[in-house]
Amino acid sequence: MSLKNILVTGGNGQLGSDLKELFRQSHGVPFYFYRHQELDLLDERATRDFFGRQHFDYVINCAAYTAVDKAEEEKDSVKK
Ligand SMILES: NC(=O)c1ccc[n+]([C@@H]2O[C@H](COP(=O)([O-])OP(=O)(O)OC[C@H]3O[C@@H](n4cnc5c(N)ncnc54)[C@H](OP(=O)(O)O)[C@@H]3O)[C@@H](O)[C@H]2O)c1
Repeated sequence: MSLKNILVTGGNGQLGSDLKELFRQSHGVPFYFYRHQELDLLDERATRDFFGRQHFDYVINCAAYTAVDKAEEEKDSVKK
């Protein structure tokens, strides 16, 4: 069975970092961790371009808007 390419978004967050640590011993399974600065899921065009350029078999989404204390000031981001 061939190895699958697995993208992990929000790779720098708490969950993403834990997965990175966990998958360190994944014996060659190709995980790709992308940080917010590298892949901003709120930027639709950049996200489409990203997935147009690269193929992933699975995506584990660890990206999330968790800055609840800023939510009142950043209503546009929260709505997306
Ligand atoms: N931690 C837990 O114990 C736990 C347990 C159960 C479920 N969850 C769920 O797992 C998810 C992640 O939680 P977390 O604790 O890992 O939160 P976190 O530490 O705040 O991580 C969220 C990550 O998402 C990134 N992010 C935010 N907006 C983004 C965007 N538009 N595009 C790409 N990346 C973006 C953040 O980058 P910046 O910091 O640069 O903005 C950050 O790296 C949430 O849905 C949470 O409810 C977490």
